[in-house]
Amino acid sequence: AATVDFRGAHQAGIATPSQDRLCFATFDVAPGATRADLAALLTTWTAAAEAMTLGRQVPGGEGDLNTPPDDTGEAVGLTPGRLTVTIGYGPGLFDDRFGLAARRPSALKPLPALPGENLDPAVTGGDLCVQACADDPQVAFHAVRNLRRLGFGTVLPRWMELGFGRTSSTSPQQATPRNLMGFKDGTRNIDARDEKVMGEHVWIGEEEPQRWVRGGSYLVSRKIKMRMEQWDRDRLGDQQDVFGRYKSSGAPLTGHGEFDPPDFAAKSGGRYVIPEDSHIRLAAPENNKGLRILRRGYSYTDGIDKETGDLLGGLFFIAFMNTPDRFVTLQRVLGAHDALNEYIQHIGSGVFAVPPGLAAGQDWGRQLF
Ligand code: HEM
Repeated sequence: AATVDFRGAHQAGIATPSQDRLCFATFDVAPGATRADLAALLTTWTAAAEAMTLGRQVPGGEGDLNTPPDDTGEAVGLTPGRLTVTIGYGPGLFDDRFGLAARRPSALKPLPALPGENLDPAVTGGDLCVQACADDPQVAFHAVRNLRRLGFGTVLPRWMELGFGRTSSTSPQQATPRNLMGFKDGTRNIDARDEKVMGEHVWIGEEEPQRWVRGGSYLVSRKIKMRMEQWDRDRLGDQQDVFGRYKSSGAPLTGHGEFDPPDFAAKSGGRYVIPEDSHIRLAAPENNKGLRILRRGYSYTDGIDKETGDLLGGLFFIAFMNTPDRFVTLQRVLGAHDALNEYIQHIGSGVFAVPPGLAAGQDWGRQLF
């Protein structure tokens, strides 16, 4: 189907099989904007997001010749492309400005400093985030653009990222896509159709004292630059050792088929077949007390580095989990030991509480306040 349900127990865009394209933006609440302004904007955003999800224009109609149209127009005639618009709230929203301190989701706080990162404030943080995913890049962009337009005076755009290819399957029914290193990505991701696993690892549950956010999740974003020139000069054997998987088939180095379980105990010539510093060994739940996250990232590019001529781009990592501590735990291990670190650099970051889905008649403004 070309449309994804906007309302439900959970927001769309998390368990939704990942669409091909992403437009992700964060916003700060403008200085001087009040609690009432913010609440009103979130109500307006809900109606706009729901309409766009259905392939309709932003409500309001064409207007007359003397006013700008309510919808910017570039999605007219395009199919909805399975558009989902997912909203999240950053730690800063729950400071003193809007009287929301008593509503703060208990695990929502800025991420601690993590090994190996070199974060650019220009692509880090934000009071709110909007994740728009669709199979058509123009549909995803149109969604963010129109929310930004409705937000004039109340929110200021902070940064925006376009993702041009999904790097994770979130269901084995989708063929596993490849990331910009040429490897299949998402093979052992959580299958988002598995409600038991989603309930254990992704959805915020009864453990959360803030009832209003139960059924939601936490979104961690990381802009991860790949040193593509270095990677492209690395020999195939080393590339495969970095991940612990074969490049062409995606199989673990201890198996033949993509979905064969990795055998982390297997040795050859006294050494582990899946190397000790390989990405999958360090990230696997077997080696992290069962810890799992739902990855839902996209490839991005920033064009070319003017000084070196190098291609700029990598992975815009997005993951959902029931507490950001899961990401922190994993990244402490990966940032310190992952063989991949020679070829990547975390340059942007964000953490957001994603509220649960909306019931009929409810909107984001009334849900938050
Ligand atoms: C697995 C790529 C960063 C967590 C994988 C796989 C690839 C990959 C190719 C194997 C296939 C699969 O099971 O999906 C990358 C690249 C990254 C990156 C290119 C950076 C540019 C991260 C980060 C995290 C992470 C930052 C979390 C902190 C995981 C997890 C798995 C995985 C949990 C599954 C391991 C398993 O269960 O076998 N990644 N990844 N990755 N990655 Fe990453």
